[in-house]
Amino acid sequence: MMNIAVAQSGGPTCAINASLVGVFREALKVPDIDAVFGSVNGIEGIINNHLVDMKSLIKSTEDMELLKQTPSTVLGSCRYKLPDRQDDDSVYRKIANTLIQRQIGAFFYIGGNDSMDTVNKLSEYFREISLDVKIIGIPKTIDNDLCITDHTPGFGSAAKYVAVTMHEIIRDSSVYSMPSVTVAEIMGRHAGWLTASSAVLHALGESAPHLIYVPECKFSLEKFLKDVRQEMAKHKAVIVAVSEGIEVPDGVQSGVVDNFGHKYLSGIGKYLEESVRSEIGCKVRSIELNVMQRCSSHLCSRTDIDEAEAIGSAGVRCALNGDTGKVMVFRRVKNQPYTIVIETADAGEIANKEKFLPTEFVNKEGNNISDKALDYFLPLIHGEPDIVIDKGIPKHFTIQESVLK
Ligand code: F6P
Repeated sequence: MMNIAVAQSGGPTCAINASLVGVFREALKVPDIDAVFGSVNGIEGIINNHLVDMKSLIKSTEDMELLKQTPSTVLGSCRYKLPDRQDDDSVYRKIANTLIQRQIGAFFYIGGNDSMDTVNKLSEYFREISLDVKIIGIPKTIDNDLCITDHTPGFGSAAKYVAVTMHEIIRDSSVYSMPSVTVAEIMGRHAGWLTASSAVLHALGESAPHLIYVPECKFSLEKFLKDVRQEMAKHKAVIVAVSEGIEVPDGVQSGVVDNFGHKYLSGIGKYLEESVRSEIGCKVRSIELNVMQRCSSHLCSRTDIDEAEAIGSAGVRCALNGDTGKVMVFRRVKNQPYTIVIETADAGEIANKEKFLPTEFVNKEGNNISDKALDYFLPLIHGEPDIVIDKGIPKHFTIQESVLK
């Protein structure tokens, strides 16, 4: 018999709880697994021996279905960077103590590329101290910037939200006779996947977004204003999608930095709005999609949620097969019909690395997305789950604050 532990880390998504359900549901099938511990606030819970018994919290299939439709991380999250062991191994010893004390034989870490750094460092440490705890990374991030995997759980739902919302913004922005510009700021840090996904509207015959700016292309304000003027000559209401991560002068974005050295990006939309107002002088509005793009589970992608659960379950099977230091990944087999398989990669190949939009996904001018990208994006946003509604509002599964304290 052994116990297992699961934790969630990094920025929230609509699918990260579905991966938790995947781990939990699979564990229930294994007679050799006794307790399933949830680590509160990612790896911090393991460091501080702050674990909750998932079997006493998730009591039924209904609970699991509700958890799957609940956005964010039910166990809380963290942006915690493990120090290098050479500099300080006290944290590593605390982690090992918790795992030994709780008789944990496998640990599943659901997170992005920074969290895979933790998986990588801990698997090396466990090997060195001969601690037989399997550690497996379950990917997630709306940024879709993990290497090797075709895509990341959480991305499809965020992309669907972006596309649906942009579609609605197009309608709203087109009502007046006067010319206008609307700028939507989309998350994604250094990679433009999520911003680029707004181009799926082109597959519906929309000409908007007329301009799409991603961090993979050099940005110049002068060229942006020229592009806007050109589009204004063709369209009464110009719609722009811009990534929060494009390069702009210092001071435009928030200067706040997290433990991994990532800047909290926000402010590009406003900056472009003000630039259009002062340089072009037309009606202009900016919209920051902000956290709504990663927590709007009422608009999530069924494909994304189903895949997120499947990859969590696959992680458990992988650990039971004796693997460790691995990250579960998707490989796309074909688009017609859309088929993926789940495989594994070494955590070291994914940790701290970023995957950027392929050059052929961006147009020559660097201000829009080519139709070549649509076949990649469209299957990921497909399908809507049946959502349980209470008093007109999608129901969520939550854990009492006092339990998580
Ligand atoms: O996890 C990815 C992400 O959602 C990025 O797209 C965004 O830049 C960042 O997280 C924001 O992080 P936080 O919510 O920690 O400020």
